[in-house]
Amino acid sequence: DDEGELQERAPVITIMGHVDHGKTSLLDYIRSSRVVHGESGGITQHVGAYMVHKNNKNITFIDTPGHEAFTQMRARGAEVTDIVIIVVAADDGVKPQTKEAIEHAKAADVPIIIAINKMDKEAANPDMVKTQLSDLGIMPTEWGGSHEFVGVSAHTGQGIEELLEIILLQAEILELEANPTRDAKAVVIESSLEKGRGPVATIVVQNGTLRVGDTVVAGVAYGKVRALLDHAGKAITSIKPGEPGVIVGLSEVAEAGEKLVKVESDKAAREYAQKRHDYLRQKELSRSTK
Ligand code: GTP
Ligand code: NA
Ligand code: MG
Repeated sequence: DDEGELQERAPVITIMGHVDHGKTSLLDYIRSSRVVHGESGGITQHVGAYMVHKNNKNITFIDTPGHEAFTQMRARGAEVTDIVIIVVAADDGVKPQTKEAIEHAKAADVPIIIAINKMDKEAANPDMVKTQLSDLGIMPTEWGGSHEFVGVSAHTGQGIEELLEIILLQAEILELEANPTRDAKAVVIESSLEKGRGPVATIVVQNGTLRVGDTVVAGVAYGKVRALLDHAGKAITSIKPGEPGVIVGLSEVAEAGEKLVKVESDKAAREYAQKRHDYLRQKELSRSTK
């Protein structure tokens, strides 16, 4: 029972939208303007999630935008995203992948915030975007709808503080809570082989606290957590709910979307990993005989 142990946790955000509408630019702007770059900790891999501070709160961004990552996670049952931001270029309007993104967010039943990007451009036409989205049932609050729209520019930074504020307001409505005293449950965002460190994985903790020394399993990968790094590559000792980080010590590269959980012993970890291995193999066999 979690009663009395629940604490507010940071919202986890995924950015989606049509090709070239500015997903990467927006994430880069937020990251470079708000993430304090400390020691790199020698990590060279791309860290697939980061956290920013605003009004004494944290916001976690998954830095692997795109439908593919989102869909892959959902296919594995990893509903890590709390809020989807759909980026629409103000000079280009709603496009096929904008509609796809809306469908994905609706299927996942997560709130949508619209960021109308490229507001710095001469040809920016936010009213066009609002009209097009209203036709799809996504109507701005100022038109009597229930969706927050914010005009932004990933080039000038216009509207980005407001976007962060809207995220925090939405998060407050969602009353996101978790129990940091529990054993950790996390989701793998991305994973790779890092020279000199072995397999590393960017994760977001969903519940509980992940600590150095914990024995964990993530799909077919398992091991004792040898080190934890924050998004800047700095060594840390634990990761709390809603927060991202990098984990070192897994036996192999884990698939994006795999759940990572703490288990009691190395033996249990090996057994879980073996079971997952057998299950995936079985699935593959049954697929190939169809
Ligand atoms: P994909 O990952 O390929 O789907 O694209 P994306 O959505 O990540 O877009 P990206 O950030 O790569 O930006 C596409 C182009 O738009 C780049 O040339 C950016 O410099 C430009 N761009 C992005 N945001 C803005 C903006 O706010 N204003 C202007 N003027 N250009 C922008
Ligand atoms: Na692009
Ligand atoms: Mg991109």
